[in-house]
Amino acid sequence: MMTPASSFEVPHKETGELLRFIRLYQRTASRVLRKAISISYRALFKATDIPLTTKFGAGMQFPHPYGIILDEGVQTGINCCILQNVTIQGATVLEDCVEIGANAVILGPLTLGKGCSIGAGAVVTKDVPPYHVAVGVPAKFYPNLKRYADKFYKCGV
Ligand SMILES: CC(C)(COP(=O)(O)OP(=O)(O)OC[C@H]1O[C@@H](n2cnc3c(N)ncnc32)[C@H](O)[C@@H]1OP(=O)(O)O)[C@@H](O)C(=O)NCCC(=O)NCCS
Repeated sequence: MMTPASSFEVPHKETGELLRFIRLYQRTASRVLRKAISISYRALFKATDIPLTTKFGAGMQFPHPYGIILDEGVQTGINCCILQNVTIQGATVLEDCVEIGANAVILGPLTLGKGCSIGAGAVVTKDVPPYHVAVGVPAKFYPNLKRYADKFYKCGV
């Protein structure tokens, strides 16, 4: 499920800059350089709290990288998207092609199944099955056939 970074990501400028720091940090062996990257990262990206150790799959998107708070140990598969003001608690796993709408809160650690969509403002308290949409507080889950078709194509499965 977890896919390493590849060279074909980074359509959004903001996503690109943020992810470049994270990838660089994770590729750097020298403790001194890691410290320098970490200091620069914290100075440049004050509007989010995304640990440099977070493992993001290829094609990750943060169209509006503001107010995003991720706990240590969050991991994503390929082609995931996290919108603004999203909070993810615990070492939550986003499988491939998961999108999380604005202001959603994930009270993890949870698994958000492949191709699922978390609605704007949802508070998710349970694992979300693949290809389901989760909306409301606390979130309820529904299969979503239209979005399933979209994801099917996007995910190439
Ligand atoms: C959850 C979401 C992905 C569902 O999209 P969809 O599959 O096209 O669903 P629909 O719009 O057809 O809505 C289906 C039902 O869920 C409800 N619903 C949709 N989104 C909801 C949400 N965030 N919270 C509560 N209910 C929601 C709709 O009112 C509708 O209810 P009904 O059947 O009783 O009329 C989408 O509505 C959403 O919230 N996307 C995030 C968008 C976002 O964050 N935008 C910010 C851009 S900067």
